[in-house]
Amino acid sequence: MFSVQRLSTITRARGTLLAQLSRHCSPASSDTGSLWHESLVAKVSNDQIRFSSTSPKSAPKMAGNAKLLHENLWDQDPELMDLIRKEKKRQTRGLEMIASENFTSLSVLQCLSSCLHNKYSEGLPGQRYYGGNEFIDEIELLAQKRALEAYRLDPEQWGCNVQPYSGSPANFAVYTALIEPHGRIMGLDLPDGGHLTHGFMTQTKKISATSIFFESMPYKVDPVTGLIDYDKMEETARLFKPKVIIAGISCYSRCLDYK
Ligand SMILES: Cc1ncc(COP(=O)(O)O)c(C=O)c1O
Repeated sequence: MFSVQRLSTITRARGTLLAQLSRHCSPASSDTGSLWHESLVAKVSNDQIRFSSTSPKSAPKMAGNAKLLHENLWDQDPELMDLIRKEKKRQTRGLEMIASENFTSLSVLQCLSSCLHNKYSEGLPGQRYYGGNEFIDEIELLAQKRALEAYRLDPEQWGCNVQPYSGSPANFAVYTALIEPHGRIMGLDLPDGGHLTHGFMTQTKKISATSIFFESMPYKVDPVTGLIDYDKMEETARLFKPKVIIAGISCYSRCLDYK
């Protein structure tokens, strides 16, 4: 049995890792301007929108592309800015109890609005399809190292893909690494506490990309006890012969019986 959940948990720690990463990425004060889009970095905050112009007076002097590159968002696209403001207000006043949503820290936002955005980096460290990746490579290796440390995993035995930006593509990366297209997987059904990416489909429609690109068969909880029906799961698995059984949950309040 393979635990996709374990791998996606590693990815789930991405916020923390990025935050730690940002400490290393933080520019020395003297070269701040050359590394960062100050206008974004300084102003994105979780507490409130604290946007203030970095160079309001120089903006009118700029022309054409230079203006486009350096103008603040609220000057360049007030309509979009207004929607961001509204969303910010909604986030601070509303409540959605979704476990995987969170308020991203300032340092993560700073990473996300940094010059790292400018770079193509397909491939893996040391094996890229484009030049100029020496520092991106260092950053990715650092993230891998920190992920393994966070889970106390031996780098001799474990590798870590830190590229998926969230749990869903992380799960997809695991499936594509382990099984061929249309290979078979089993996961806890969505209505029973599983996740879309465990292959959810209805009678008439394949809902998630997982069920489109792989053949999925759900396992379920016992409707009386609410516990995963392991015996039924085993029976189904013997018939369906999946290559992967996902031991992962979104909404199930008991420990999994991995054995
Ligand atoms: C078990 C499981 N896998 C994958 C995901 C998807 O994660 P994300 O929303 O980060 O893509 C979730 C989200 O809650 C989840 O619970």
